[in-house]
Amino acid sequence: MSEGLKNIFTVTSKVIKGVGMGRRLGFPTINLVYPEHIDFGTGVYLCEVELPDEAYFGVMHLGPRETFDNVETFEVFLLNFEGGDLYGVECKVDILKKLRDVKRFENSEKLVAQIEKDIEKAQKLLT
Ligand SMILES: Cc1cc2nc3c(=O)[nH]c(=O)nc-3n(C[C@H](O)[C@H](O)[C@H](O)COP(=O)(O)O)c2cc1C
Repeated sequence: MSEGLKNIFTVTSKVIKGVGMGRRLGFPTINLVYPEHIDFGTGVYLCEVELPDEAYFGVMHLGPRETFDNVETFEVFLLNFEGGDLYGVECKVDILKKLRDVKRFENSEKLVAQIEKDIEKAQKLLT
């Protein structure tokens, strides 16, 4: 792991079904069970997701989808993931670094532009 990254918190969850909007935004996310206790606050984080056979870094959203329906979600866009069905898979998420607070965007294009920046920031932290 890159220097300066430390594990803030670890959450384990099964991958559950979302409404699939991430696919429309161009960032398919894995949806996880919203943690009952979080002592690190909502936000967008860099994380590492351990699946049974492999691990991926990811950018993670934890909190209300303020741009859309305010539903609280815990979801991760996995970096360098080729795709595939992960429903029901048990995973361990190491939360590594806060990138920003969750925000309400005027439209989905603006949210997409911000997620692209989040990914760039995450990749810089990993080099
Ligand atoms: C890295 C990342 C950052 C996000 N940041 C925000 C945000 O600031 N505000 C927001 O309303 N939704 C944010 N989202 C959540 C999107 O709204 C969400 O992916 C979208 O609603 C699709 O969810 P679904 O695939 O479960 O339907 C973020 C998602 C990701 C992956």
